[in-house]
Amino acid sequence: MAFDIDMIKKVYANFGSRVDAARKVVGRPLTLSEKILYAHLWDGDPKKAFSRGTDYVDFAPDRVAMQDATAQMALLQFMQAGRPQVAVPSTVHCDHLITAKEGAAIDLPHAKTESAEVFDFLSSVSNKYGIGFWKPGAGIIHQVVLENYAFPGGMMIGTDSHTVNAGGLGMVAIGVGGADACDVMAGLPWELKFPKLIGVKLTGKLNGWTSAKDVILKVAGILTVKGGTGAIVEYFGDGAINLSCTGKGTICNMGAEIGATTSTFGYDESMERYLRATGRDEVADEANKIGAYLTGDDEVYADPENYFDQVIEINLDELEPYLNGPFTPDLATPVSQMKTEAEKNGWPLKVEWGLIGSCTNSSYEDLSRAASIANQAIEKGLVTKSAFGINPGSEQVRYTANRDGFLKTFEDLDATIFTNACGPCIGMWDRTGAEKAEKNTIVHSFNRNFAKRADGNPNTFAFVASPEMVAAIAIAGDLGFNPLTDTLTNDKGEQVKLDPPTGDELPTRGFAVEDAGFQAPAADGSSVEVLVSPTSHRLQLLDPFTPWEGTDLKDLKLLIKAKGKCTTDHISMAGPWLKFRGHLDNISNNMLIGAVNYFNDKTDNVKNELTGEYGPVPATQRDYKAAGIGSIVVGDENYGEGSSREHAAMEPRHLGVRAVLVKSFARIHETNLKKQGMLGLTFADKDDYDKILEGDTVDILGLTEFAPNKPLTLVLHHLDGTEEQFLVNHSYNAQQIEWFVAGGALNIIRREAAA
Ligand code: F3S
Repeated sequence: MAFDIDMIKKVYANFGSRVDAARKVVGRPLTLSEKILYAHLWDGDPKKAFSRGTDYVDFAPDRVAMQDATAQMALLQFMQAGRPQVAVPSTVHCDHLITAKEGAAIDLPHAKTESAEVFDFLSSVSNKYGIGFWKPGAGIIHQVVLENYAFPGGMMIGTDSHTVNAGGLGMVAIGVGGADACDVMAGLPWELKFPKLIGVKLTGKLNGWTSAKDVILKVAGILTVKGGTGAIVEYFGDGAINLSCTGKGTICNMGAEIGATTSTFGYDESMERYLRATGRDEVADEANKIGAYLTGDDEVYADPENYFDQVIEINLDELEPYLNGPFTPDLATPVSQMKTEAEKNGWPLKVEWGLIGSCTNSSYEDLSRAASIANQAIEKGLVTKSAFGINPGSEQVRYTANRDGFLKTFEDLDATIFTNACGPCIGMWDRTGAEKAEKNTIVHSFNRNFAKRADGNPNTFAFVASPEMVAAIAIAGDLGFNPLTDTLTNDKGEQVKLDPPTGDELPTRGFAVEDAGFQAPAADGSSVEVLVSPTSHRLQLLDPFTPWEGTDLKDLKLLIKAKGKCTTDHISMAGPWLKFRGHLDNISNNMLIGAVNYFNDKTDNVKNELTGEYGPVPATQRDYKAAGIGSIVVGDENYGEGSSREHAAMEPRHLGVRAVLVKSFARIHETNLKKQGMLGLTFADKDDYDKILEGDTVDILGLTEFAPNKPLTLVLHHLDGTEEQFLVNHSYNAQQIEWFVAGGALNIIRREAAA
């Protein structure tokens, strides 16, 4: 399992001096977030102050974590980099590809068979390149990272948006796409726009039914799903110190639901307790040595308005439990008002399922508090009126919770214990009857509750709550049940009331586990063979993309002129396509199928200029590719917004699209296109978008003198024989032009590795 103490010591050795240098260049006391950012500059000691929300900065993250769905393409790309080992400690976690249905005893062996080729690939590629591999059933990536790898003051990236969970142990941990992970593993810097800062001051202490989950449910209600965009949320105050470490993880985890870059807490005793309980005395000892640097400066917390872009204050003494939903995690309703709100809005009150788990809420403390409610129910003669399911966060949590009797308590209440994995949280839930698409309500302790997220049924009304509240509502079977005030009728017909939950932050007898599910990599992986079947439908080794031919691009066919919103989901859809994430050719059959064709307002229906027929976008592009003809995609504003999914850039590249010309790009997608050796261009005059006509062929001129800040020229050849030409801009710097020339950034990394 081996957390890397040498790496941590190295980070801490420079931490203080870098923070001191940062204080000087910034000229004021620093928040914790700033300290961590300035201590992780790629160029070493801070030499200048960065502008929040404006400057792009190169960082040197300490770790990389990947989950099984996104790790596939990240590692297929990494194999192209030609490096013998990863440059920073990295891990892979098999948690997304395990369907929840009957319970762990049946579901886990089934998943291991069903996705054997993916797991075998990930295991072998990890073994070869020095990556720690967590087998299916070992647990959910973010819980496992918190238990084993997160450390105060560290910086981590992960190929999953809830990587931010590690803020619970005082990290700056950020979700990225596979291409970024590949770069960092290959030893390159990682670029991020210097974030804005939101401060959340917590006062008081949680009590009764309220939990850490309610803090973030309340914050989500205040900030909404977009309120944290581009910002780090930093929690501080007495209330923060009163929270457990895993509770802090819960709060940071759901920072993803308000769009925050990440969230974090300063190092405190709860973190020290957690480090020691999870076998990391050495990390705690090292952190204690530089403790003052691992939290924000006193002046900052004494006068937060002066240092944060926005400040929110929450008094934990007064906080109520919340239920957030349906269909969005920021619709926050205090439990006391839920009955009224549900009746007013027509939300079904009968609750079909209560689910506890996900990376957000599957810690030992979470299970212990939920078990205390389940235990009361048994003692007081109650049963669950809803179906009830539990996904423990890790094998260590499961084993310990089992030893301490919690799982038996849940089972006595008829709960199904699912695998230590994401399961229903990522829609890997084979829920009986979901296909009937009936209107129904579920409550869960997860983070996301968008339509179809858990069971694929658009009419499932999902509400997010703390594990103990989920347990109480599953027992009542009623969304409007308020355990603080309401009673339930037991098997003797008596009215009984549930007492507030109790639980243990950490197991009093310590954590235990027989086989945590970890596979250490080979010390020397040079002879390890990476397992990819040439006949696989789910995995395909990548071939390097071809370099630029050295001439202007002429006679490109217009593949599609996309109208309006074109997100990475429109370019490379998720859902059923997820299973092809490791197979570039197969997943390319979803390329741009969600984009609206400007000329007929249809999706996935464009004119094939070779046949004159209308047909699907991928098939049309494959025809052009087969004929050796390049093409161009034209788009509108903020093209490629959404996720950092690199498939949205790799698919067009793979199928022979040569350029993407838009009114404006979402920056991450623009960078992804550049990394893949594509031309990403913008209209110098946005009105020129209107000049693009169906059937146009396009020349891009000026490439032999391609240089930073020098526009290129676009020539349109219309079907009627007329021509128009105009300037197009680009944002390539000198290095990115080299990527274009080489046919992609990985071609350069490989060349350098071989030199
Ligand atoms: Fe998995 Fe759901 Fe978390 S998909 S990583 S448990 S958000």
